[in-house]
Amino acid sequence: MCLATATRDGKPSARMVLLKGFGSDGFRFYTNRESRKGKELESNPFASLLFFWEPLSRQVRIEGSVERLSDEESEYYFHSRPKSSQIGAAVSKQSQVIPDREVSVAEKDCATWHWAPQLLAACHRGGYIVHPSVIEFWQGQTNRLHDRIIFRRPKGEDTGPYTHLGEGGWVYERLAP
Ligand SMILES: Cc1cc2nc3c(=O)[nH]c(=O)nc-3n(C[C@H](O)[C@H](O)[C@H](O)COP(=O)(O)O)c2cc1C
Repeated sequence: MCLATATRDGKPSARMVLLKGFGSDGFRFYTNRESRKGKELESNPFASLLFFWEPLSRQVRIEGSVERLSDEESEYYFHSRPKSSQIGAAVSKQSQVIPDREVSVAEKDCATWHWAPQLLAACHRGGYIVHPSVIEFWQGQTNRLHDRIIFRRPKGEDTGPYTHLGEGGWVYERLAP
């Protein structure tokens, strides 16, 4: 999925990450907390997620507040990955400028030789959950009259004659394409 974050003063940045879990509480992903996105989420804990399936002509947009996953959940995920991925993730100072590719390779080789659990304890990998407050489903149609249905958490009395009541505190509306 595409994950968009922003600095405290609203300058946006976007990148792909893997969706690693979802439920009624939100959408989970894992990254390096010292990365650019990690720092942006620290100072501005809101994000937007985007999915696009071209063969289905389908797009889903999600917006919401972001929270760190617990250390237990982050560690559980970390240790579920192959050891080489764990080492690669642990040694990468994600988003920092490095002189060349060889530096990454050498650091990974070195870590593989000196493999130790404390190496992992020192790394900044961790998970986040996006709690959705808006989810929009877009279904492309051939005649340009695409369908757009937006689900949102109502703020007070901000509903109108075309607002429908969904389940679990959500309302939904149709938007012009
Ligand atoms: C298909 C795809 C999946 C990716 N999955 C992840 C991921 O799950 N976690 C992650 O930290 N980076 C992932 N990346 C790399 C990010 O796009 C990005 O390069 C990196 O996280 C640094 O982003 P930042 O400098 O904006 O923090 C993925 C890239 C691609 C193309």
